Amino acid sequence: MIPLLDLKAQYSQIKDQINAAIRDVLESQYFILGPTVSDFEKNIVAYTQSKYAIGVASGSDALLLSLMAIDLRPGDEVITTPYTFFSTASCISRLGAKPVFVDIDPKTYNIDPNLIEAKITLRTKAIIPVDLYGQAADMDPIMACAKKHQLTVIEDAAQALSATYKGKKCSTLGDLGAISFFPSKNLGGYGDGGMVITDNEELAEKIKILRVHGAKPKYYHDYIGCASRLDALQAAVLNVKLKYLDQWSQGRQKNAKEYDALFSSKDVQTPFIDEHCQHVYNQYVIRVSKRDPLRDFLKEKEISTEIYYPRPLHLQKCFADLGYKEGDFPESEKAAQETLALPIYPELSQQNQRMIVDTISQFYN
Ligand SMILES: Cc1ncc(COP(=O)(O)O)c(C=O)c1O
Repeated sequence: MIPLLDLKAQYSQIKDQINAAIRDVLESQYFILGPTVSDFEKNIVAYTQSKYAIGVASGSDALLLSLMAIDLRPGDEVITTPYTFFSTASCISRLGAKPVFVDIDPKTYNIDPNLIEAKITLRTKAIIPVDLYGQAADMDPIMACAKKHQLTVIEDAAQALSATYKGKKCSTLGDLGAISFFPSKNLGGYGDGGMVITDNEELAEKIKILRVHGAKPKYYHDYIGCASRLDALQAAVLNVKLKYLDQWSQGRQKNAKEYDALFSSKDVQTPFIDEHCQHVYNQYVIRVSKRDPLRDFLKEKEISTEIYYPRPLHLQKCFADLGYKEGDFPESEKAAQETLALPIYPELSQQNQRMIVDTISQFYN
């Protein structure tokens, strides 16, 4: 069986350090915020070369708190992509605002910057581009458009910590950046976790207050916030793992190169890399015809794969009241039918990669 991700292989390399870090938190009995969380926030500030990093309970909350910080209200609109994980758009709806979708560039699967301006109205407050699969969205034209219309850009970098765009780290490319530490991310915790990155002091301060129920000082509430902190236990684990992040991302890049070289069949389209981007392959996603039968065939041969994402957000039942229909975003709909993520974790062996590629060739032959 070849799994999509093998976290046990990773844990076995760093077990002693992780166990010691967890033990330190247990000895301190300091679980909510405190020194371990602020150490980790400082380390992320240094890693991303940003000014502020605020640890929150998940990547989804990083997006939600970012929108709360810019005071998003019912009736406001936020432009984003329909080809992404659910929470990129649900954070908008949860505040009573309206997600306005824009189709993707079929090569990168990221929001097509050329289609954004036409969707801007007087109600538009923000744009949320997503660095899908670990490759930055084309941020320069997005930032230029946002500047022209005075919109805030929240970069959903949940899948892209350690990736770069024009030499700059993902999560620092917009006004605010959201990171996820979900266990399957390149920097994954041992449970949920997330972070907001920004250079804006005022927004950073507001998010710090919002994550503790909107109170400052304690029990005096200027805002209605929530309980959304990064756990000290998660911060301890992540502090150990951060030291290995670049090495692990390089392992993924090496495996991606190996796949790129091994795939020769015209039936398989390998990932397109934008010349401005360093892709970190949180997912290695191929585009194929007969995707579902291929996936079944691989499953029979004990090779795990995943579909990110099988139904674009504009066609989700919970968003029916937005009034979208099939055909509205053809590139997103096509990608949802044709893409397939293969195992790419750093510990994946060359032998297994060859077996995966051979099995796919066997299917098409
Ligand atoms: C693109 C994207 N946005 C947001 C999230 C939400 O992150 P989390 O699972 O930490 O809430 C994820 C991760 O699952 C994601 O992949």
